[in-house]
Amino acid sequence: MDIKIAHWTSPSNIALIKYWGKLPNQIPANPSISFTLAHALTNMKVEVVKKQTQLKSISLDFFFEDQLNEKFKLKIEDFLKKQTERFVWLHDYHLTIHSFNTFPHSSGIASSASSMSALALCLCDLDEQLSAKKLSSYEFLSKASEVAREASGSASRSIFPFMASWGSYQEGTSNLWATPILKDSIHPNFHHFCDSIVIVDGAEKAVSSRAGHALMDSHPFKESRYQRARDNITKLKEVLSNGDLNTFMEIVEEEALTLHGLMMTSSPSVLLLKPESIEIIHLIRTFRNDSKVPVCFTIDAGPNIHILYPQSEKEKVHKWMGQYLNKFKILHDEVGNGPENFLTKANIHD
Ligand code: DP6
Repeated sequence: MDIKIAHWTSPSNIALIKYWGKLPNQIPANPSISFTLAHALTNMKVEVVKKQTQLKSISLDFFFEDQLNEKFKLKIEDFLKKQTERFVWLHDYHLTIHSFNTFPHSSGIASSASSMSALALCLCDLDEQLSAKKLSSYEFLSKASEVAREASGSASRSIFPFMASWGSYQEGTSNLWATPILKDSIHPNFHHFCDSIVIVDGAEKAVSSRAGHALMDSHPFKESRYQRARDNITKLKEVLSNGDLNTFMEIVEEEALTLHGLMMTSSPSVLLLKPESIEIIHLIRTFRNDSKVPVCFTIDAGPNIHILYPQSEKEKVHKWMGQYLNKFKILHDEVGNGPENFLTKANIHD
């Protein structure tokens, strides 16, 4: 039997400059930058077997945590149908996908970035195996990032270790795929960052990303927001090379609060922050003012608070969390090394 297998782990990421608003064909309305996480991963295995029939259709079984999952299957099927021009073999093979997340289902961590980047990597890997055409590492990763973007915009950034930007803002950056930000090009202050995610509410998102982005189409502040994001990227890039933690924290918190400000002032208005989210923001700011520890927050499209700090401050921050945030569940993550081929254990970025 003609069987091929691809098996990858791929991480989630947390945006510092937020992607919020898109044009057709999953083109971002503004560029974004994120930290790639180390521990919030999707582990995905895709097995393909040549079909007996000539029928041109997608044939797929999708298992999430060992259970057949129809809801996810339909989403993946929809996406694969749009990929048949790029991956012409999709019509000729039956796919069996097994997917696991290392983070709890109701943790509020968006799984689309890790799962769609893992899927994109598996598809590009299978494409190489089936066409026997090996791409350079750069070509492979850009292609995987482009495929991931078509499934979920933020997934395009998860393909790269450490940090990535997506969206055109200077030469060498593209709207179609993300670009890595290399550790060597960044000030050592940012080499080892932690992200402790305080779970305020683990329920599924009240507003889907697609519906959320669409709120920007008619938003009264959209043009100034897109310009601000571009300006913030330029400022952040400067900060990343000069190591200015105070300006880093200012930009990152402004981005998080802008995202929520935009949602609150959309039509319809979307208010995702909970009283506890605000309580945690106050606690972080008080701790920072009192202790001078460089600790700040960012927030995705949900109520959970990501607490960001250099690893060198871990002991102090954890002690403070133990004192002030002990009523919350906290997932401790950090900046990581990006996807890994589970079969060869090779990190493609090595
Ligand atoms: C708030 O990537 O989930 O997390 O492209 O529709 O799948 P789709 O949206 P998605 O949006 C992420 C929005 C965000 C900010 C960010 O990650 O940049």
